[in-house]
Amino acid sequence: MKNKALYPGSFDPLTNGHVDLIRRGLSMFDQVAVGVLKNPSKRPLFSLKERVEMVKEAMGHNPRVRVLAFDGLLVDLVRDMGDPVVLRGLRVVSDFEYEFQMALMNRKMNPGYEVVFMMPDERYTYLSSSMVRQVALLGGSVRNFVPPLVAKRIEKKTKTKKPVHA
Ligand code: PNS
Repeated sequence: MKNKALYPGSFDPLTNGHVDLIRRGLSMFDQVAVGVLKNPSKRPLFSLKERVEMVKEAMGHNPRVRVLAFDGLLVDLVRDMGDPVVLRGLRVVSDFEYEFQMALMNRKMNPGYEVVFMMPDERYTYLSSSMVRQVALLGGSVRNFVPPLVAKRIEKKTKTKKPVHA
């Protein structure tokens, strides 16, 4: 039996949906490690250090939540960690195709790769980090979408970048 899960992602930024999923993971596993990808393909809003800090703070420095940074292949991290179950969120059917492909690709590279999909609360079905980033960069409020401490950091970062209406 596996009692450890690894929840990988870019978390740029951490959203209320991510927090909900980590909490759900904690109801199933003794330990949830959150793996923060160092170099997401899109230009990140937050540095790796900031993204790691935000997850730790938002989870109240819970000793059952370990936050780590990773680079390279997810399967390599999974192997190095002793094959924890990988946790991923499924919000809508369209998420499934990408997740299915990624999971099977990863399992081809590491036959011990196991993934558990969990649904976040329906309140977060529409939420994504990329949309939160877009709203933030265009001067909108993100307070309904992310934990308060993340909203504060976003406001600080985007304060000087208000759009101009010509
Ligand atoms: O939630 P996200 O930000 O879409 O997370 C995607 C993530 C980090 C799980 C995925 O991009 C990943 O695992 N990246 C590491 C590189 C890798 O292993 N790529 C092969 C996937 S088939």
